[in-house]
Amino acid sequence: MNTLHLTTEIKDIAKAANIIREGGLVAFPTETVYGLGADAMNAEAVAAVYEAKGRPSDNPMIVHIARASDIGQLTPMLSSDIVAIIENFWPGPLTIVVKKKPEVPDRTTGGLDTVAVRMPDSKPALDLINLSGTPIAAPSANLSGSPSPTRAKDVIADLDGRIDAVISGDDCRVGIESTVLDLTSEVPTILRPGIITAESIEAALGKEVIYDPSLKEAARHVALDPAGGVQESDFQPKSPGMKYKHYAPKADMLVVEGQRDKVKAEIERLKGLNEKLGNRVGVILFEEKAFIEAAHDFFARLRDLDHEEVDLILAGALSDTDGVGFAVMNRMLKSAGYNIVRVS
Ligand code: TXA
Ligand code: MG
Repeated sequence: MNTLHLTTEIKDIAKAANIIREGGLVAFPTETVYGLGADAMNAEAVAAVYEAKGRPSDNPMIVHIARASDIGQLTPMLSSDIVAIIENFWPGPLTIVVKKKPEVPDRTTGGLDTVAVRMPDSKPALDLINLSGTPIAAPSANLSGSPSPTRAKDVIADLDGRIDAVISGDDCRVGIESTVLDLTSEVPTILRPGIITAESIEAALGKEVIYDPSLKEAARHVALDPAGGVQESDFQPKSPGMKYKHYAPKADMLVVEGQRDKVKAEIERLKGLNEKLGNRVGVILFEEKAFIEAAHDFFARLRDLDHEEVDLILAGALSDTDGVGFAVMNRMLKSAGYNIVRVS
């Protein structure tokens, strides 16, 4: 397939919108990561997204809308929590899981009776949804399992020739995917951590918000088992997307956790040792507490290191239990396949 390369100019977005309306696939920038979009109400188009990504088809997609009021097309009941979320966080990097209307195809929601919805904070994304005249289902625009794409070139590297068009815009401002918040359970529950944290959602809703226990479990097991080796299959996460091998670079990857000076020293030691044996080693070590920058850079760093064909990536863990650093650690641990050592 010949992939059409488009800009964010409105005449190009109009071409892309035509493709979406006809059931085709278009990659486009959002403020979090690039998405691979299809008409969310067209089951065949959505099936083609799974195909292009090589993604298991029980993994549900996020449906993107351009006006908050369009959520009424997708869900039958607007609770006061939903309204408060929309008022406080949309457009923005927060996805909500709500009860779905029968019109939303099972293909889009992976057969669940709920649907994930978000209004992105990105002009090209909003233009595309508006001109398409339909909600757009979009997972991240990468091959399943590889790091999420935060730059147009990352999308092209994975999907050129597999999709109808790619809209090349700016690098993504946030760099990790949206926070996914389940509003269908008694207590609002974060299924995927992101740049919008439990604390800020609690402030907006005026009530307790929890992290899905499996998210904390993952971190806790790793902390308990200094040898690492925790398998994702040990957890029973509620968000189906959390159970697959995810974000993995081609290189082997090890996360080093502990007090910062010791982490630095251990990374230097392991780097020297490996280089002596002829391995190429890449290091990911963010400034302490620079969580926003870490979120912005993490996936791009993984992809750049793969491009440099390193054999091993050594990454310093971020110490944060519930903020943006926690969201980055969620990705870092998955990328490394929960391969972690602790220095103390
Ligand atoms: O920032 C983002 O959210 C990006 C951009 C493109 O908007 N999209 C994205 O999509 O990350 P994806 O498909 O890579 O991740 C969707 C996540 C998965 O973890 C999936 O399991 C979860 O949302 N999800 C979707 N629908 C759900 C539902 N009905 N119930 C529970 N989890 C759901
Ligand atoms: Mg993804």
